[in-house]
Amino acid sequence: MKKYIFISGISTGIGFVLAKALSTEFTIIGTLRAKPDKQSFISEILDLIPIYMDLNNGESITHSLQEFLSENPEIKLFALINNAGIAVPGPIIELPIADLERQMRVNLTSQIQIIQLLFPRLQQGESRIINISSVSGLFASPFLGAYAASKFALEGITDALRRELMLLGIKVILIEPGPLKTLIWSKNLGVTDQFPNSIFKKYLGKANDIILATESSALPVEKIIAPILHALKHTKPKNRYLIHRHPLLIRILTKFIPSQWVDKLVVKNLNSQKKKFRPI
Ligand SMILES: NC(=O)c1ccc[n+]([C@@H]2O[C@H](COP(=O)([O-])OP(=O)(O)OC[C@H]3O[C@@H](n4cnc5c(N)ncnc54)[C@H](OP(=O)(O)O)[C@@H]3O)[C@@H](O)[C@H]2O)c1
Repeated sequence: MKKYIFISGISTGIGFVLAKALSTEFTIIGTLRAKPDKQSFISEILDLIPIYMDLNNGESITHSLQEFLSENPEIKLFALINNAGIAVPGPIIELPIADLERQMRVNLTSQIQIIQLLFPRLQQGESRIINISSVSGLFASPFLGAYAASKFALEGITDALRRELMLLGIKVILIEPGPLKTLIWSKNLGVTDQFPNSIFKKYLGKANDIILATESSALPVEKIIAPILHALKHTKPKNRYLIHRHPLLIRILTKFIPSQWVDKLVVKNLNSQKKKFRPI
């Protein structure tokens, strides 16, 4: 009998690629913001039960999941993959608080709300919860502070959750991708227009170029599949899977070099003519 895997945010990017790849072996319960049209790309996901919800709206999440659970009392979940997310850029001192709240709501609170609502359907001793974090959960780049805050918080709460659920035999895993080619990059093109009077105008002016450069050097999104399969199938999955072109560099930057040195490197990058103020 096929096992069920829940994945949030399957319309594009990582969520879509995972849903498509895993649907040959598992039944995917996937979240979408709205119903796609009949000819949609969604038909590429072989075995899909779609659920509709807005992750920026707690009531929408509760309503959709409770309806799904009551209509499908027999479904048990093998795995829950918290994938959906947004990146809200901007200088921290100028970022509207509503934007900060939306960032935290979509990337953190909604993930925990989903875990709480679906927890009764996870199978003790077998199931896995996989949270998609980021290298931004290990290293905070300037002008991406809100996004980093959401991912650092996700890392912290996932560590605590893993240690709690170990007591019940449920494994909890973090995936930490660096740049992967998805729409998350192009969604932020034009971001500087939101801060026309910024005191960081000189730096924000380079944002579009940097986003395009990062996107073009990003790894293919399919690189996420093998680590996820390992996390799903291995009897002893790792706590964290770092997916990056230069994993050693990330480890050195985040764990071994004094942070004063890293700060100097970041500022040097910001002031250089290279389109590369995001060091990782
Ligand atoms: N791509 C990277 O380089 C990268 C690197 C590190 C970590 N990540 C993480 O990977 C995850 C997936 O990102 P991605 O790159 O695949 O981005 P993406 O292509 O933009 O996909 C994001 C998904 O989240 C959904 N979503 C966003 N806001 C939502 C909302 N309010 N309600 C419902 N659904 C919502 C989107 O649905 P809509 O289509 O309806 O907006 C989409 O399905 C995120 O958590 C991201 O932080 C990505």
